[in-house]
Amino acid sequence: MSWPASRPRRLRSSAAIRRLVAETTVAPRQLVLPLFVAEGLNEPAPIASMPGVVQHSADSLLRAANQAVASGVGGLMLFGIPLHKDLVGSAGTDPAGVLNRAIAAVVAEVGDATVVMSDLCLDEFTDHGHCGILAPDGSVDNDGTLQRYAEMAVAQAAAGVHMVGPSGMMDGQVAAIRASLDASGHTDVAVLAYAAKYASAFYGPFREAVASSLEGDRHTYQQDPANRREALREVALDLAEGADVVMVKPALGYLDVLSDVAAVSDVPVAAYNVSGEYSMIEAAAAAGYIDRQAAVLETLTSITRAGADLILTYWAAEAAEWLTG
Ligand code: PBG
Repeated sequence: MSWPASRPRRLRSSAAIRRLVAETTVAPRQLVLPLFVAEGLNEPAPIASMPGVVQHSADSLLRAANQAVASGVGGLMLFGIPLHKDLVGSAGTDPAGVLNRAIAAVVAEVGDATVVMSDLCLDEFTDHGHCGILAPDGSVDNDGTLQRYAEMAVAQAAAGVHMVGPSGMMDGQVAAIRASLDASGHTDVAVLAYAAKYASAFYGPFREAVASSLEGDRHTYQQDPANRREALREVALDLAEGADVVMVKPALGYLDVLSDVAAVSDVPVAAYNVSGEYSMIEAAAAAGYIDRQAAVLETLTSITRAGADLILTYWAAEAAEWLTG
């Protein structure tokens, strides 16, 4: 009789031994909760395509922020939905705009206990829904947009944000933002760069979440899902421009990219477990097709295993409770 020369199953034979030899641990402190706040709401409004996620009112935002911090998450990422949108996204740079007010309120409420981050992009604020301003021919004007991002960074910093998250994929955005933050005395505000962000169908539910007015697509500025090597070029540029954290987005379809980026980055690497990834699991779990908690934890474990130090995920607060409870 021949015997297996090696028996990997020995290290799987009890829960205790599996726990002892686990290579990957997901910790609450690495999870970042995205939060949506909409101008003009008196109470939270559900987002149909993201069951369990809401557009917050000014009040409910603070309750959610407190709850998330109590659960042990590492940070909050704020998105604002203004009542009035225009060609240049004026509400994004207005100190009284919905996002800037929300930053100030959240920082005042929980700022010492967590890292408050904000989306730095124009798509929620423009009436055409693009991430930048438009040139006369209707294309997205890269360098004109940088000017707007530079102003938006200063407005967010003035509101007290700890870390800005430029997500528009304009060339040179990190350098432009870093320069304006430094010139305005906000040298301590960090930049979480959406470095490798793909033009993905998995942002679909997010578009409902922020009441996006986009018609068309973002293929001229977000990356082509076919490209892997190109992500390293984007990351190298953002690192050279001064990014403090680099992010890959989406997460699940792009774990190869995440792994590549983690291998070369000398700053922390984040991954965005996006809205469509959330909604797929929620829908399958609601239909009884999969075990919700197990699927969520496996997802977060896989993203961590691939190389993410931080994960932006709509499950952040709930998962943090599971992980500590
Ligand atoms: C742009 C932005 C988007 C997301 C985060 N920041 C949408 C887009 O690029 O179209 C998507 C996040 C998600 O799908 O969860 N401000």
